[in-house]
Amino acid sequence: MCEAKRVGILGLGAYLPEKVLTNKELERMVDTTDEWITTRTGIKERRIARKDEATSDMAAEAGRRALKAAGLNIEDIDLIIVATITPDMFFPATACLVQDKLGAKRVPAFDVSVACSGFIYGLAIAEQFIRSGTYKHALVIAAEKLSAITDWSDRATCVLFGDGAGAAVLGPVDKGGILSAYLGANGKQGDLIKLPAGGSRIPATKKTIEDRLHFIKMNGSELFRHAVKIMADAALEVTKPLNLKAEDISLVIPHQANIRILNAVAKRMGLTEDKIYLNIERYGNMSAASSAVALVEAVQEGRIKKGDKILLDAFGGGLTWGALVIEW
Ligand code: ACO
Repeated sequence: MCEAKRVGILGLGAYLPEKVLTNKELERMVDTTDEWITTRTGIKERRIARKDEATSDMAAEAGRRALKAAGLNIEDIDLIIVATITPDMFFPATACLVQDKLGAKRVPAFDVSVACSGFIYGLAIAEQFIRSGTYKHALVIAAEKLSAITDWSDRATCVLFGDGAGAAVLGPVDKGGILSAYLGANGKQGDLIKLPAGGSRIPATKKTIEDRLHFIKMNGSELFRHAVKIMADAALEVTKPLNLKAEDISLVIPHQANIRILNAVAKRMGLTEDKIYLNIERYGNMSAASSAVALVEAVQEGRIKKGDKILLDAFGGGLTWGALVIEW
């Protein structure tokens, strides 16, 4: 075993389904308006996966693109992690399905189920394996088909979510890489957002279907209140060991839950709003995939340059949260 001193991102990839669902179309589905959705959330449109397209299909495609960007083959990957709360099925793990789709042989593959914080948890876990010298390269994918667990008759939730996938290949780097990671959870707040039925507590029955318990249930205003503090605190905790100040961070790549949450987080952190990367307008909230796709697009748009210190920051159902500082 040879310990890697630094672990960084070698390549990134994203996959977004073709179908765009606009706020105008939602106006015809539930009692809402483009104006309400835009001003309350910042979302204009979101992507919706095809009926025959499952989370593992989107995850595999994002994974392929990340491998290509890294200039590596699937044979080079020693570990596959998929962050998702919308697995193809309870088991096998979506990561195992992705392993098969990508043609990886026998490498460990498992899912991480921490909702919107999943990409950051996945990166932090993979980093440990690589830093310890256990593995050399890991493929971390965040993929969600939230449209499959969205109640399309509930205007309070259906306007928020979308589908997509983002992926990163991690490996040893000479300079920079992941400088600091901070993860946390508070199960006492688990009721704020959940999918109540279908598990061992409330198995699926005709009644659970009639009661619409197989869809996301959310206390939006309470989540909003916690989200701002959680994300700002996580940013503080992850930068503290590095003695970084707000001005040392070139760009924050946050979980894209609500533009008002992100503006409030920027204010609390003492950052100008232009330092917070946003693509919520085009994709809505894709849970774990949100920060992954945001990172991919920020790099593609040239918003991140060599030597920049960027901050990934997310919170989600659980509640869970996570933050990473990466030097590019
Ligand atoms: N269109 C029109 N009106 C609506 C809609 C809609 N789509 N949804 C709710 N309303 C109404 C409500 O019924 C309510 O009406 P009332 O005052 O007559 O009762 C009014 O709008 C205000 O509702 P609130 O829920 O108080 O609106 P709020 O300003 O809090 O915005 C929102 C709601 C957007 C959900 C916000 O609370 C939010 O973003 N919360 C955080 C959600 C979040 O981050 N979720 C995901 C985190 S975890 C994860 O990502 C997996």
